[in-house]
Amino acid sequence: MEFSLKDYLHEKASIINNSLDSIMMNLISNSLMREAMTYSLMAGGKRLRPILCLAGAEIVEADYKKAITTACAIEMIHTYSLIHDDLPAMDNDELRRGMPTLHIKYKKNKGEAIAILAGDGLLTLAFNIMLKEAITSEKALPLIKAANIIADAAGYNNMIAGQTEDMLSEGKKTKIKEIEKIDSLKTGALIKASLLSGAVIGDANLRQRQALEIYANNIGVAFQITDDILNVTGDKKTMGKAVGTDKKKLKNTFPTLIGLDKSKEYANNLVKNALASLGIFDAKRSQPLKELAVYILERNR
Ligand code: IPE
Ligand code: IPE
Ligand code: MG
Ligand code: MG
Repeated sequence: MEFSLKDYLHEKASIINNSLDSIMMNLISNSLMREAMTYSLMAGGKRLRPILCLAGAEIVEADYKKAITTACAIEMIHTYSLIHDDLPAMDNDELRRGMPTLHIKYKKNKGEAIAILAGDGLLTLAFNIMLKEAITSEKALPLIKAANIIADAAGYNNMIAGQTEDMLSEGKKTKIKEIEKIDSLKTGALIKASLLSGAVIGDANLRQRQALEIYANNIGVAFQITDDILNVTGDKKTMGKAVGTDKKKLKNTFPTLIGLDKSKEYANNLVKNALASLGIFDAKRSQPLKELAVYILERNR
């Protein structure tokens, strides 16, 4: 049967959504905090990062099921990063995934504090579920390696460094290479860790890991460039978040610095590089990653 990316994304996102649902339902305490964490986590993201994690296992001929817990943990970390990114102290946004951002949802009752704590809750829960799985598994080492890759990517030297630089460069003259660096840190790092953690769980060899690293470096930056293009050209309803905000906040992005056409061209070239790196894999097996790379450019949400 011919491969359909639409079906693939739908099928994998359902697996992730069902797993996240059951993890959240089984949390011991039935508290306001569980409700707040679940609100943002289940608000309806694209699940791109966890899908990349499952795809990372599959491309090295492993069963994606081995990577489901890790994939869920990645989505928790991503969601936490969005909750904090939307806070008044950061991007100050009121709409996310088509719903009021968490600090707005709870604005009558310590909304900002709830959002900070729910982010902290999701970040720690992510490592909790990964470690719990590892200590009950007969094959713990690849799971622990995957958790370490994710900790590194989400940490002070990668995603946090990128978020810091993103904030500090607002309104300042910035070079395009500096923006590319910020994008690779704030967004690319977790995208890369998503794919590589899945591949490591699938026992990828060095050559495979190196190829996937090149692929992910390229699609990670292309993903953020597209996000910034959509901030100019996108539709608020389709995107589920505000548009036109980067210009208002004097954010340094590819489109604000070099314009839409050159930004698109830049992202296109990155995706070309990503596709070229997949040459070592069997053509049929690499089909999902090939089509995902193109989807990252062509998406409208
Ligand atoms: C948004 O990520 C934040 C960026 C890093 C650009 P996504 O576009 O993957 O958001 P969701 O998960 O689908 O909501
Ligand atoms: C978000 O980047 C990056 C992280 C949350 C780590 P942006 O601030 O550009 O993403 P959106 O546009 O708010 O989704
Ligand atoms: Mg931001
Ligand atoms: Mg933002």
